[in-house]
Amino acid sequence: MSASPIAVVTGGAGFIGSHTVDKLIELGHRVVVLDNFSTGKRANLARWLDARHRFDGEQPALEIVTCDVAHGIFAALAAITTKYGPVERIVHLAAQVSVVASVANPLVDMQVNYGGTLHVLEYARAMGVKKVAFASSAAVYGEVSQMPVGEDTPTKPMSPYGIDKLASEFALDYYAAVHGVATTALRFFNVYGPRQDPTSPYSGVISIFADRAKAGQQLVIFGDGQQTRDFVYVGDVVRAIVAAVGDGNSRAVANVGTGGEITVVELARTLVDLCTGAAAPRAERSGIVHAPARAGEILKSRARVDVLRDRFGVVAETKLVDGLRATLADH
Ligand code: NAD
Ligand code: UD1
Repeated sequence: MSASPIAVVTGGAGFIGSHTVDKLIELGHRVVVLDNFSTGKRANLARWLDARHRFDGEQPALEIVTCDVAHGIFAALAAITTKYGPVERIVHLAAQVSVVASVANPLVDMQVNYGGTLHVLEYARAMGVKKVAFASSAAVYGEVSQMPVGEDTPTKPMSPYGIDKLASEFALDYYAAVHGVATTALRFFNVYGPRQDPTSPYSGVISIFADRAKAGQQLVIFGDGQQTRDFVYVGDVVRAIVAAVGDGNSRAVANVGTGGEITVVELARTLVDLCTGAAAPRAERSGIVHAPARAGEILKSRARVDVLRDRFGVVAETKLVDGLRATLADH
């Protein structure tokens, strides 16, 4: 068998990253993960560390290199590319992912989330990488009055996190226009699914609610719960990433969502029902309580998804209830 092309996944030990690694290896890529393990876990990649997952009995399907993208990626990749050949594609997911942490420490956010992207792009330019796909965020939009949110909606980020994601998008476009590096930015909406870490107070709401509903503990809704989100299942997000990183379609920016929305209170009720059975008496079920709304919270969020469909051929098709069942099975 001839050597398969190398795909690098930065942040590949994390929630979305490890699902992306699974899919790329299943598709026949050799994958190199660059991660500093600040939130990612080796256990998320354990299935590929077995000696049986090797190409030609020699080349491992997965290599993991501990690396901080804020300090550059040339040194981390040098030994592997000397041995196995050049990097063909990069999925850039490594990031400081907490919006709240970015407000507390904007310089760190800038160094990792913007600086890290520049380091990845510099590598891609110097080494002739064919395609870079980048994890941007719906946070670039800020508060928007018209739903659904299209990619042409004026961006007005409300946090250092959103600013650094938007700055990264500008950098991707600059490297495409000036240096000919093919790039795509995917603006993820609220991603959920197995392996999302529920342990931080700023973890995704579904990971927190799933954990608590499964344990029969109270679910705490911030505000009246009428705020909406477009929750997209990680398996669908991975299909978008794989399409984007394999595509020649450069300088594209695409929302990654379902095009639907659900209120947080409806979400909480659905999870409680799934854990206890809709017919269970109220007393046996997790309670739902309310706490003050988060400051600066956006009220509505729903993606327009025609760019994802028309340019990348991807439609997020996992029904929320099916995605929630898969998530609960992991908790
Ligand atoms: P995650 O925390 O599980 O994954 C992030 C990964 O990046 C982790 O493995 C972490 O260890 C690694 N990392 C962090 N800083 C690093 C550094 N300096 N150098 C190298 N590795 C580093 O979070 P996730 O939800 O999988 O997020 C993946 C990407 O998707 C991020 O870029 C995030 O901003 C973006 N995103 C996520 C969502 C969501 O709803 N989960 C929404 C919008 C955008
Ligand atoms: C999320 C992402 C952010 C991304 C943005 C894109 C996470 C952790 N954050 O922000 O990186 O840029 O989507 O759209 O994935 N809530 C509760 N109770 C809880 C936790 C949350 O009621 O215990 C509510 C929040 O107030 C919010 C909603 O649930 O209204 C979603 O919160 P969260 O999962 O933290 O995500 P976002 O703030 O939308």
